[in-house]
Amino acid sequence: MKIIGTGSALPEKIVTNDMLAGFLETSDSWITTRTGIQTRRLLSKETLSELAITAALAALDSSGVAPSEIDYLICSNVANSYVTPSMSSIILGPLGCCCPCTDLNGACAGFIYALDIADAFIKTGRAKNILIVAAEEPSRFCNWHERETSVLFADGAGAVVVTEGDGFRDFRVTADTHTDVLYYKRAMEQTPYDRVDERTQPLVMQGREVFKLAVRACIKDVDIILQKNGLSGDDIDMYLLHQANLRIIDSIREHLGQQKDKFPTNLQKYGNTSSASIPILMDEMSRAGLLKNGMRLLLSAFGGGFVTGAAILDWSEIKYPEVSSDN
Ligand code: COA
Repeated sequence: MKIIGTGSALPEKIVTNDMLAGFLETSDSWITTRTGIQTRRLLSKETLSELAITAALAALDSSGVAPSEIDYLICSNVANSYVTPSMSSIILGPLGCCCPCTDLNGACAGFIYALDIADAFIKTGRAKNILIVAAEEPSRFCNWHERETSVLFADGAGAVVVTEGDGFRDFRVTADTHTDVLYYKRAMEQTPYDRVDERTQPLVMQGREVFKLAVRACIKDVDIILQKNGLSGDDIDMYLLHQANLRIIDSIREHLGQQKDKFPTNLQKYGNTSSASIPILMDEMSRAGLLKNGMRLLLSAFGGGFVTGAAILDWSEIKYPEVSSDN
């Protein structure tokens, strides 16, 4: 499997740390030093499905694959205002795709889970062209009166088109039950037989615990996938890691003894956009011409569950259509 098109879309609304300090007991210096985040984009006028469609159309456009040629649509999405139908069902028609579609919730590792599943579909001949759209609005899980979580999360969408090819070398996806460290519960309707008084519980996060689990799990994934493929940290040209916290990325980089320029980041601008963070970064880098033919990339992400995913691929440059000056 190889990636032949990328796209991304972000909300218009830019929210700075100082804007948050206007109503939360926090400060720009706390958020910047502890996380690296300076601004984030939050949905205000747009809907998440609109962002997902924009990202997907950009990915399709750059791939040269027509919507009618997509054999499967996979959306990575933890939650949106619809429980059913799925995000993939909602965007399928507007995109002009006519194929099976499904959503998966692999938390912030969902994009890598989706790639892994797409790879299996392509290898077994079940599909040739697959559209993967990671669209997330974790800002809507947070209690905006609490500083612990609301300063971290943000909204966005990233998409790729994948097809048959020899770009991907290997995947490693893992899961382990740690429900208490990171969860968001939504109240369900009562029935005559089950009158549990459920309330929606905004995102609960044991920050320090998640930090430690994330660093430990990502280092393990990266070490194992490198070793399995007979590679060392030096053999990777770029590490595209989940954009949650600069300190987490730095801990992994220091373990691998690698230079900063191999670990591109955009969390400073966009915050933690959950599973959309890696495809947004990938799209920005690819469009900026920073991903060259033959570059070896390592992707790694972690998220609530606890789930993690890592992948190694060799990049093939994508030709993006010229943007018309009328736009
Ligand atoms: N502004 C100001 N102070 C804050 C704050 C905020 N937004 N959030 C927490 N604090 C305070 C705490 O209350 C605590 O105060 P105390 O010392 O008086 O008790 C102090 O800052 C230190 O809190 P702590 O939780 O130990 O900070 P930390 O260095 O671990 O950083 C996180 C907190 C959340 C930034 C960090 O743990 C983290 O990034 N964890 C991983 C989270 C993550 O990536 N989640 C997504 C998974 S996909």
